[in-house]
Amino acid sequence: MLKIKDNIYWTGHIDWDLRSFHGYSTPSGSTYNAYLLLDDEPLLIDTVKHYGYDDLVAGIRAVIEPSRIKYIVSNHAEMDHSGSLPALLELCPKARVICSPKGAEGLKRHFKRELPLSTVNSGDTLATGKNKFKFFLTPMVHWPDSMVTYLENERVLFSSDAFGQHYASSLRFAEEAGPDIVFKEAAKYYANIILPYGQLVNAVLDALAALDVEMICPAHGLIFRREEDIAKIVSLYRRWANHETGRRSVIINDTMWHSTEKMARRIYQIMRAQDIETSLINLQTTHISDAVTEIMLSRLVIMGSPMLNNHVLPTIGGLLTYIKGLKPRNRKGMTFGSYGWAQAGFKELEDGLAESGIELVSPGHYFQYIPDELELENLNDMAEAVKMVMDT
Ligand code: FEO
Repeated sequence: MLKIKDNIYWTGHIDWDLRSFHGYSTPSGSTYNAYLLLDDEPLLIDTVKHYGYDDLVAGIRAVIEPSRIKYIVSNHAEMDHSGSLPALLELCPKARVICSPKGAEGLKRHFKRELPLSTVNSGDTLATGKNKFKFFLTPMVHWPDSMVTYLENERVLFSSDAFGQHYASSLRFAEEAGPDIVFKEAAKYYANIILPYGQLVNAVLDALAALDVEMICPAHGLIFRREEDIAKIVSLYRRWANHETGRRSVIINDTMWHSTEKMARRIYQIMRAQDIETSLINLQTTHISDAVTEIMLSRLVIMGSPMLNNHVLPTIGGLLTYIKGLKPRNRKGMTFGSYGWAQAGFKELEDGLAESGIELVSPGHYFQYIPDELELENLNDMAEAVKMVMDT
C-alpha cells in the first residue's frame, strides 16, 4: 500500500526487467502507474500492462475491495496502461470506464468486447463525492486518444504519458531519486515518444497553464511534487516542444575499419576547440534511442558512415529511418565518412538528414579508405560553419 496523498494510493507495477519499450532501450526498466482515489465513489486512474495485473489488484486490495470501484479512468488506450483493464473489470462489476472518444474507439479495437465506456471531452467534469475531476484531451501526447485528468480539490494532475520516465524504482517521488536521473530519463522519454508532436505539446501546456498544480502523477516513472521540480519539468517540456537547443553538438558514427571513427574523433577535437559541449556516439555501442536523445538536445548533428555495398551501414540507416519519424526541427547537420571505391551512397546519408528536417550547412567530407593527416586537417574546414551554427 503506497499512500501518495490523503486518499490517493499508487497501485501500479514496477517493470524491473523491461529492456525495450517498442524499440526504445530501457536499461532502467519502467513503471506503469495506476492511482486509486478513495471517495464516496472510488475511482482508479489507469491500469497496467497485462503481466502487472497481480500487482495492480494486490495494490487495490491493500486499500479496498476492487468491487467497490465505481470508475476507471483510461487516460490512454495503449496497452501498457489498458492491458489489465478487461481482467480488472471482472472484479469491478459496478465500474464505468471513462475515456476520450478516441479512447473508446481504441479500447474497442484492442479488446474486441463490450466495455462499460463513458466518453468525456476537454472541460468535462466528474464528481465522486468530495473529489471533482476535470478532463483534458491531449491528442498525440502520445496517441490520438490520450487525455489527462486533473483532480481540482487536491490540485493533482494525472498526466498519462506526458512528463513520464522509463525508470524502475522502489521510490515514487522525483526528489527521492534526485534530479539527474529523473530529468535525464524524462528527456530520453520525450525524445523517443513525444518529439514529433511539439505543436500539440505546446497546446496542452497552454491549457494546463491555467491550472494550479501541486503534484504531477505521470503514468511512467516518478511523481513530481516539489514546486521547483514541477516548474522544471514543465519548462523543459516547453523548451523541447519548441525544439530549442543548447550550444551543443552530437557526432554520430559507425565504422568498419576505424577510418570513419578516426574522422569522428578529429571532428570532436574541432568542437572542443570551440568549447562546444559534444557527445561522440558510436552506434556499435550506443542504442539509437540514446542517440536521438542527444539529437534532441543538440543544435548541430554530425553524422558519418563508411560505405557498405554502396549504402550507409545498417545502424546509420536504422537511425535515419527512426529520426525521419521523430521529425527534429531547428537542427543543422554535417556529414562525413570513408569509402572504398564509390561515393554514391553518401547521398543516402545527406538525404536522410534532410528528410528528417536537419538542414545541411556544409559539403560532406568523404575520404577514400584511410584518411591521411592532410585529409584529417581538411576537416578543419568545418570549423567556420560550426561557429556560424552555434552563434545563431
Ligand atoms: Fe505509456 Fe503511450 O503509453
